[in-house]
Amino acid sequence: MSQEVENHDNHNDSGNRPFSSVMARYMSRRRMLKGSLGLAAATLFTDFGLGAAIRQASATPSNRRLVLGFESLPGSMTDAIVVPEGYTAQVLVPWGTSLEGGSNGWQQDIHMTPAFQARAMGMHHDGMYHFPLDTQHASRDFLLAINHEYIDQTSLWAPQGGPTNSDEGARPADEVRTEINAHGVAVVRLRRDDDGHWAPVAGDAHNRRITSATPIELSGPVRGTPWVVTHWSPDGTRVRGTNNNCACGHTPWGTYLTCEENWPEVFTRQGELTPDQARLGINGERGRYGWESARDGEQGEFSRFDNTPRGDDPTKDYRNEARGFGYIVEIDPYDAGSAIYKRTALGRFRHEGCWPGRVVEGMPLTFYTGHDSRNEYIYKFVTKKHWQQSDANRPGEAYDRQAIGARYLDEGTLYVARFDADGTGEWLPLSVDAIIPRGEHKGRRLGELFEDQAGIIINTCDAADLMGATPMDRPEWGTVDPHSGMVYMTLTNNSKRTDEKSDASFTGEGEGVSAMGSGYATAPVNAANPRADNTYGHILRWQESNDDPTRMRWEPFVFGGSASDADNNLSGLTDVNAFASPDGLWFDDRDNGEGILWIETDNGLDKGRENAVAEMTNDQVLAVVPGAMRDDGQPAINAQNQAQLKRFAIGPNEAEVTGIFATPDRTALFINIQHPVNWPAANTEDATQVTQGRVRPRSSTVVIQKRDGGQVGV
Ligand code: FEO
Ligand code: CA
Ligand code: CA
Repeated sequence: MSQEVENHDNHNDSGNRPFSSVMARYMSRRRMLKGSLGLAAATLFTDFGLGAAIRQASATPSNRRLVLGFESLPGSMTDAIVVPEGYTAQVLVPWGTSLEGGSNGWQQDIHMTPAFQARAMGMHHDGMYHFPLDTQHASRDFLLAINHEYIDQTSLWAPQGGPTNSDEGARPADEVRTEINAHGVAVVRLRRDDDGHWAPVAGDAHNRRITSATPIELSGPVRGTPWVVTHWSPDGTRVRGTNNNCACGHTPWGTYLTCEENWPEVFTRQGELTPDQARLGINGERGRYGWESARDGEQGEFSRFDNTPRGDDPTKDYRNEARGFGYIVEIDPYDAGSAIYKRTALGRFRHEGCWPGRVVEGMPLTFYTGHDSRNEYIYKFVTKKHWQQSDANRPGEAYDRQAIGARYLDEGTLYVARFDADGTGEWLPLSVDAIIPRGEHKGRRLGELFEDQAGIIINTCDAADLMGATPMDRPEWGTVDPHSGMVYMTLTNNSKRTDEKSDASFTGEGEGVSAMGSGYATAPVNAANPRADNTYGHILRWQESNDDPTRMRWEPFVFGGSASDADNNLSGLTDVNAFASPDGLWFDDRDNGEGILWIETDNGLDKGRENAVAEMTNDQVLAVVPGAMRDDGQPAINAQNQAQLKRFAIGPNEAEVTGIFATPDRTALFINIQHPVNWPAANTEDATQVTQGRVRPRSSTVVIQKRDGGQVGV
């Protein structure tokens, strides 16, 4: 997501202590703590991860067997995509592509209507995943489930010169309906022909649009509670729409998880704010697009975006409408008529995405999530139910996957992460019996403050504060190596990280948070977030304990940076692999426990980050074969091995590169280009064609393949 719709536009100009001195102090503390661990802690370390056999099989960066088979690209700043020699890049299902086909298709001057947009690809493609219709053809014929994160009003309303009354006055109802329908999720069948050309299957029975108006069931702890009672849903069981769907996830039973991120700003609230409204950023008299200003339709069609209490009680107004948002949402892509569920047990905040951990028969499942705001947290949800292989997806069949989803995702334990300076970490439970370890409520149970699990979920971030979670540099995507269970997560940047303190997390010290609904406006550097005013971002990775779901050990994987900013270049990056603002992430499992870690960036130039990388290249896709943990606190990618990190593709001007997966045979890599300004070029599906003149920009999926039909990346 570009800065245009982010609620993070402040910039900290304080003079920073050079990072090298912060890192030196952190390293010294980590060595000291490791040296005094003693027998108990040493035993704990040996219990992490998989057994010795797999441990030995996992390669270090210097002895890996899987080798990237392309030349790292120099930077590019054009209205085109750049891929390595020998590769093609095809534009696929851009915004406005009809899911029904026929003659009523996209045209450059089309005037978008609510009805057309409701049956066409939405705007601003983001997270996505593939669902095979049968195992044999999974690499050439599958269902694509894809998020439409937000909209570009300039492009949407280009033929009429922009949106009507965008800043004041009443928005026309049909413009609002169109914008609502341009958000959400699409399911579309894709097929490849024998020549390697991909196309959507127009009119396929699986094709579906879910928008910010589609009725959705609430499930889990919040369902049926007073928190979510509205005039439209007086029993608190349903809500209309899923909004600002950013990254995604999937389940082993074949469903798609779409994640609600920057949704608070479409809601308004006048007067005194509740703690959850204050914490998540719901306020003001006009929403991001002024949807609440339109002349109301049936059942509060537009007035529901105004959360100001206006009736005698919550059944008379929409004061609770936004409490139906901020969740992980489960969709069965195989059944276009199936109900959709918001799985509230996984927490309520600005969810970036939701990534499944290692899947082991007879063990609980784990799903990792992150809250993409400055100084917010990393979470995981561990299912109460243990995995049964008999629940695994049966591709292409329509049956009640949501009943399986309810068994795994409606009951379990939500945890938030604390990263300690000695390289270990603890998962802190957010449950009614959890004991608050610090501050004025020290010794009390979370249940005493929030009453029940629904209260904890509605106020997830405040509960996490109380438990002593580590404020992070804006968690974006995660991914998991399915063999080792190693988890990677991007921390994209943080202009509100200060240099007041250098050598500890906030554990047990109680500073920073004084009241419900506040969080950390700024937070001092800590071991896991060691750079003040972190403009380049970094990637962490961690390995869970095999025996204790509350313990892990972690290390920095790579620090974003640029050779032209030497003090900040902790991973020794060069002109052909410098990056900043890591965002998308996917561990591409290839062979014998090795795989490629793909990294996508959301750094930008205009409206983008003020760093050296933004001056030399557009946003990009990088690849690295990551290797085993170092356990010495140094970044796994450093000046000695940085050449193993390679720039694979570069997006068009001002676009973010996001969303990523490959076909099971690894011959086609799918990415999304979000918010380009003058791309894709007209009258061609070649994504590498530089746009001539001006076009109406369209976010789009791009499929990258080798000309010789081989595996991508190697
Ligand atoms: Fe929608 Fe945090 O990216
Ligand atoms: Ca981002
Ligand atoms: Ca993102």
